[in-house]
Amino acid sequence: MDLTQRPRRLRSDPVRDLVGETSLSPSDLIAPIFVDATTDERVPIESMPGHERVPVDESVARVEEVLATGVEAVMVFGIPRSKDPTGTRAWAEDGVVQAAIRRITAETDATVFTDVCLCEYTDHGHCGPLEDGLEAAHAAEGEGDSDGEADADGTSGPGIPHGHREPTLTVDNDAAIEKLAQVAVSHAEAGAHVVAPSASMDGMVGAIREGLDREGFESVPIMSYAAKYRSAFYGPFRDAADGAPSFGDRRHYQMDPGNAREARREVALDVEEGADVLMVKPALPYLDVIADVRREFDHPVAAYNVSGEYAMLHAAAENGWLDLEETAFESLLSIKRAGADLILTYFAEDVADGLSEKR
Ligand code: PBG
Ligand code: ZN
Repeated sequence: MDLTQRPRRLRSDPVRDLVGETSLSPSDLIAPIFVDATTDERVPIESMPGHERVPVDESVARVEEVLATGVEAVMVFGIPRSKDPTGTRAWAEDGVVQAAIRRITAETDATVFTDVCLCEYTDHGHCGPLEDGLEAAHAAEGEGDSDGEADADGTSGPGIPHGHREPTLTVDNDAAIEKLAQVAVSHAEAGAHVVAPSASMDGMVGAIREGLDREGFESVPIMSYAAKYRSAFYGPFRDAADGAPSFGDRRHYQMDPGNAREARREVALDVEEGADVLMVKPALPYLDVIADVRREFDHPVAAYNVSGEYAMLHAAAENGWLDLEETAFESLLSIKRAGADLILTYFAEDVADGLSEKR
């Protein structure tokens, strides 16, 4: 057959790797870890097989496990010893994340990223303090019902009845960003290398930049969760970090899944406010957004391969329907191909292990 073009010529063994367009390395990956002030033992996270919440005493050991795979960075999440309406344990000097950062940075060479949000620290589980009035309505109507289950009258909590008009106010944006700046400063004081705000509040990055600069942390970068969607793929994380809202949901502050142009606008605002790294979250259902942010901006782009993306591959693999190692690797490679420089993923350790075996 007289074929001039035979793309298959480059797919044979010695050549294929040399012409590969995308590569994945352990140094592209950031491993999320969970430090829990309410336990003295490691507690497995059921919906995220292989992951555990660890006590502060085990935080260095946990990070050493990550480093042993070749992954050099962690993202620290905390479960505080107690919660309150404003989330004060989030910026406590002796808070769970602050204590863990101090030990991790003193005893390891890991690059420490921290999630800056309030939802694990507020008793209502929202990402900031509630608007005046809503708090009271929640307390009055909640009456011992803070489990987020639908009430008998078919509502899912105070103020958010189905079939009625929803109130447009939930979290007090401007109060939240002041608190988030305090959280970021407390993480920097403890030694965090990069802070990563995830609360989806307007002006959040600017407030944090200002707070950090005022306290002398002008060289601490901000990795902003810049295009963060209201996603059903966060389900397992909310078990892991105990951060599910006790009423309502996050649609009043996180982005609608159908919006792509809005992502560009959100990202541009964070750039103006001083973000250093731009994150898109989740990753696989939003590869178009990752590609768009890569094209439109020159900043490093991060993508968060979230808990649900991890859990679904595990569930399928457990049934024998998918090969876990192959699908995890292909997922991360695709996220890089779309344009991400950095990937936050619960697969970090396993994929890094697999990469070093291939060498
Ligand atoms: C906190 C936060 C969440 C995640 C990261 N930081 C939960 C949320 O926004 O609801 C999700 C991570 C995951 O699902 O892996 N704001
Ligand atoms: Zn949050």
